[in-house]
Amino acid sequence: MSEEDRYVFIAEWYDPNAALQRRYQLFFYTKDGSVEMYDVKNHRVFLRRTKYDELHKEDLFLGNKINVFSRQLHLVDYGDQYTSRKVGSKKEKTLALIKPDAVIKMGSIIETILDSGFTITKMKMVLLSRKEAMDFYNEHQSKPFFNDLVNFMISGPIVAMEVIGDEAVSSWRKLLGPTNSSIARSESPESIRAKFGTDGTKNAAHGSDSIASAARELEFFFPSSGDRGPKNTANFKDCTCCIIKPHAVSEGLTGKIVNAILDADFKISAIQMFTMEKANAEEFYEVYKGVVAEYSDMLVELCSGPCVALEIQEANAPKRFRDYCGPTDPEIARHLRPKTLRAHFGKSKIKNAVHCTDLPEDAVLEVQYFFKILDN
Ligand code: RTP
Ligand code: MG
Repeated sequence: MSEEDRYVFIAEWYDPNAALQRRYQLFFYTKDGSVEMYDVKNHRVFLRRTKYDELHKEDLFLGNKINVFSRQLHLVDYGDQYTSRKVGSKKEKTLALIKPDAVIKMGSIIETILDSGFTITKMKMVLLSRKEAMDFYNEHQSKPFFNDLVNFMISGPIVAMEVIGDEAVSSWRKLLGPTNSSIARSESPESIRAKFGTDGTKNAAHGSDSIASAARELEFFFPSSGDRGPKNTANFKDCTCCIIKPHAVSEGLTGKIVNAILDADFKISAIQMFTMEKANAEEFYEVYKGVVAEYSDMLVELCSGPCVALEIQEANAPKRFRDYCGPTDPEIARHLRPKTLRAHFGKSKIKNAVHCTDLPEDAVLEVQYFFKILDN
């Protein structure tokens, strides 16, 4: 086997039984999609080379959390020069913002981002204060358009995303198109600003203009320590909770599901990406313990990677949204309720695309679990 066919990462796994952080070499063989794990400390093979269809080359980059046979692994370092050169040199992070005029089209924009080969690793809907918007755009404070820009940016919620990909800074800006939406429509008709922007100020989306700005802007929305950054937009009333499950997120369905929800005339009043630890999932699913046969499989699925939580807002949200999700089992949904979310996007009873609140009286509690407790 030539080196070219194999990636190596250093991966950490928190072993809850031993209360230990364990360290492995993780090998991924691109030819047949097989994985192998080696316990570095104890010098032994931990997982023999096994084919594992659920892991893809695109999932392998530094900082990502991946799931291998129900273990959530954190990729903390490259395991060899080849992997570092091959994966590391081109991967960049950037900040993508959906601006107020395009939040209603966020499903399509997220879909475009994912279909273009980027990975979304963080996501949060926020409403900036005037001070926050002025800070964020302080490089433009002497420009004639500064006031209009700030007023526009605080006119409604925005969606901030950390996006990772090959040369993400420049390739995301290329996808955005020219700053002015009208010019974008004539010069780059397929670009995001051409399709979703309004004019010179209201131009649908933002992208960092350099690696240094990306680092500063990502820190602004997703601070690495201490401060929590701009707060989420959840209202905790007249609402229900929807979770786009990890399998659907990793299959790149987030944009399509958000689109379907918006097309069905639901209002998304908050959206945020979370990575659940097992203890959190146990707490969140507590009511199903001992009641639903699939409880432990449900836990595994919910912790298997990032999920996306939504607050859906309207007076009748718990009932109408639950109807729109459809029967738990996607097979049954496809027969009986073919227009529902699970019929469209579900794969199995466990991987059924979305969780939604069952009982109206739990709706606010579930929204609070994500947007108050976990976002802390
Ligand atoms: P962005 O920072 O939002 O990604 O956009 P950009 O780099 O393409 O444009 P930049 O020059 O940084 O301007 C920031 C935002 O200010 C608004 N603007 N209005 N009316 C005008 O002449 C004008 N010029 C710029 C736009 O919202 C622009 O995205
Ligand atoms: Mg700019």
